[in-house]
Amino acid sequence: MRGVFVTGTGTEVGKTVAAAVIARTHAEAGERVAVFKPAVSGLDEGGEPDHALLRRASGSEQSDDEIAPYRYGPPVSPHLGAELAGERIEPRRLVDAAHAAAARGDFLVGEGVGGLLVPLTLGYLVRDLARDLALPLVIAAPPGLGTINHTLMTIEAARAVGLEVAAVVLTPWPANPSTVEASNREAIERLGAVRVETLARIDPGDAERWPALSLP
Ligand SMILES: Nc1ncnc2c1ncn2[C@@H]1O[C@H](COP(=O)(O)OP(=O)(O)OP(=O)(O)O)[C@@H](O)[C@H]1O
Ligand SMILES: [Mg+2]
Repeated sequence: MRGVFVTGTGTEVGKTVAAAVIARTHAEAGERVAVFKPAVSGLDEGGEPDHALLRRASGSEQSDDEIAPYRYGPPVSPHLGAELAGERIEPRRLVDAAHAAAARGDFLVGEGVGGLLVPLTLGYLVRDLARDLALPLVIAAPPGLGTINHTLMTIEAARAVGLEVAAVVLTPWPANPSTVEASNREAIERLGAVRVETLARIDPGDAERWPALSLP
């Protein structure tokens, strides 16, 4: 399976934005791109949900179920979303759905939920799914104060179980980076021994104007 699995240092850090730009970059290069997200929660909050933005970015014709097999209304961790809905997330179903999605394209862009150690069930973390899919990781992280620690911890948690970290993406990267932001980029590159890319602020609604982000 060719592709990437986009995780992040936490929730609301730019995973979907980064995954969408990566997906579009591959699609623009003529590849058939499929997308996948194990679980989406917070549908009650409105706005374009992650699976819809990923589908639009990739040009894929996958159904909601094919992209994100578990979808919940409340903005809570997936294991709790499932519990509140009276069901349990089945790891086997996630892995099968990701493989089915991958089989529809040349390249799979997966997005995790929250950070790497978020539970899908109390016995199966996002990290376990990333391992089962054996895709290189892309870690989305904010560029500002506090990001070195969160990013290095995520890299450690990934490498501790043998996951490959393809790159960290600092997002949204400002047009004129401050001293802190520029220094964070260098520190993460050096201390994490990792490739660091940056992603400028985009308008998610205007895909025509997105920059390219070629990963891995
Ligand atoms: N490059 C960027 N351009 C525009 N907005 C960005 C960018 N990077 C991060 N953001 C902002 O950060 C917020 C979170 O982005 P996004 O939805 O991609 O996060 P996420 O990590 O996927 O969140 P979730 O954990 O809910 O899946 C968005 O409101 C978005 O505006
Ligand atoms: Mg997201």
